[in-house]
Amino acid sequence: EKDGHDWFMRKEIFEQPHAVADSLLGRRSRTGSLQLDEMRLSDQELRDIDKIIIIAAGTSFYAGLVAKYAIEHWCRIPVEVELSSEFRYRDPILDYSTLVVAISQSGETADTLQAIRHARTQRSKVLAICNTNGSTIPRESDAVIYTHAGPEIGVASTKGYTTQLVACYLLALYLAQVKGTRFGDEIDQIMGQLEQIPAAIESILARADEVYALAHEFAASTSFIFLGRHAGYPTALEGALKLKELAYLHAEGFAAGELKHGPIALIDDGLPVFCIVPPQGRDQLHDKMLSGIQEVRARGARTICLAEEGDARITPYADRLVRLPRVPVLLQPLVSVVPLQLFACELATALGHDVDQPRNLAKSVTVE
Ligand code: F6R
Repeated sequence: EKDGHDWFMRKEIFEQPHAVADSLLGRRSRTGSLQLDEMRLSDQELRDIDKIIIIAAGTSFYAGLVAKYAIEHWCRIPVEVELSSEFRYRDPILDYSTLVVAISQSGETADTLQAIRHARTQRSKVLAICNTNGSTIPRESDAVIYTHAGPEIGVASTKGYTTQLVACYLLALYLAQVKGTRFGDEIDQIMGQLEQIPAAIESILARADEVYALAHEFAASTSFIFLGRHAGYPTALEGALKLKELAYLHAEGFAAGELKHGPIALIDDGLPVFCIVPPQGRDQLHDKMLSGIQEVRARGARTICLAEEGDARITPYADRLVRLPRVPVLLQPLVSVVPLQLFACELATALGHDVDQPRNLAKSVTVE
């Protein structure tokens, strides 16, 4: 049942090329436009939306953070991302022109369920992104985008997360299409780029041994930092969460630009720092990330850099280097998370922990 893997989690990490491909399947009509089966909100209803609030917990919340970058860039609709457990208690401003997007792999997370119930009492439309057919959250939502990850058994989410990212990109493109933004004309091209992702993930998995070697090399470390910028920031948070959950180690993700505002005080001799390096582009993201990496390195950190193939500028600053396939910056979270999943899984295994059933955690959290 684990297909020769030691853990369901490892099996599920390796299923991601398939899960991502399945989640993209059948979304394009003959004319090339996007179609989402259970959208159930009319084009007019979607055009009336002037604000989106994404609510989710844990790893799903990080998918929401990525979605904000894509939706705001492609659709020019303002997006807030909020933890479901916080949402109701701040008296959020909601009305019929607010779309609330609930992201939940299980569809049963109590915090998220209560949040959408609250949103509906305020007349907001609710769209669920969910992996579990017929679960409570999609049943209580106005529309659903189902991810096609298949059952996720490992408590730590992996293919659940990457397929949520796919659903978020699909939603963003669909809204761009309906609203007729300039990216509405690039849907074909962006879908083409998404369709390359399974092969890109496959190429990382083919080099899993390199990441496993790193996990053994750093197995005695008790603290890890993860740095990212832009769409790489949620990846940093997710990498840190995986390590906390599975290896029970202190791990923190930061936006690289925030370092100098405090966290840099944590940097100590030998501290491992994962750096998620954005693709080299025309903007300054890559330069800014490089300077953050230099800052931590100058203070003794050992940098483990995740950077795209062909990025030669990173080499002098990377104590260890994991190459990522080249993908556009907004899609990079789909590939950059994979080495971090492999690292956490292998490190936890090396430490003798039960990867599929980490202590104190349950697969779905049905209490608030
Ligand atoms: C982390 C993890 C959790 C869930 C969170 C939300 O690996 O699995 O953080 O992401 O409990 O669960 P869902 O998506 O089912 O609402």
